[in-house]
Amino acid sequence: MRLFVALLLEEEPKETLWQMAQQLKGEALQGNITRRENLHLTLAFLGETERKEDICRAMDQVGGREFAMTFDRMGKFRRDGGDLYWAGVSHCPPLLAVQRRLSRALKAQGFALEEREFRPHLTLGRQVILSPEAEERTLAERFFPVTTQVRAITLMKSERVGGKLTYTPIYERPLEG
Ligand code: 2AM
Repeated sequence: MRLFVALLLEEEPKETLWQMAQQLKGEALQGNITRRENLHLTLAFLGETERKEDICRAMDQVGGREFAMTFDRMGKFRRDGGDLYWAGVSHCPPLLAVQRRLSRALKAQGFALEEREFRPHLTLGRQVILSPEAEERTLAERFFPVTTQVRAITLMKSERVGGKLTYTPIYERPLEG
């Protein structure tokens, strides 16, 4: 199974972010826009593994309280063949703390995680190409802040179903209310 641990969104902020993704689609010359139900923020990417129970055990050790998280900007990572556009999170110490505790617990279970600095983002679209004018407009003007309450961390399975990239929650660990 291809697995990752993510934060999911409340319905209303998810709808708002999806609408911004739709705007991006409208501006793009090319692009693969994230489906509404696939919008999420990844905390840890495990890749192919059958060790679901060990991941759940690590998630159980994370603890911490619920928190609010605000997406406050759109940005992009440069990629050959079209860029990855994302919504970025404003400074959020509880998010960083949860990610750090999760990484530590997963490493203690023997998982090899990426050592790269955590850059919390929600992917709006991949392989996106915009004209330079549209890019400036999109990055500078087409985003307004969106806040969601984070109440749990969720283990997600990633697979292709009928050709569509599909994410399914397979375990959820609530944070303290
Ligand atoms: P991305 O959106 O920036 O590509 C499922 O693939 C989730 O895991 C995505 O949110 C993806 O982030 C993230 N992820 C992190 N590292 C990854 C990797 N090495 N390969 C694929 N996905 C990765």
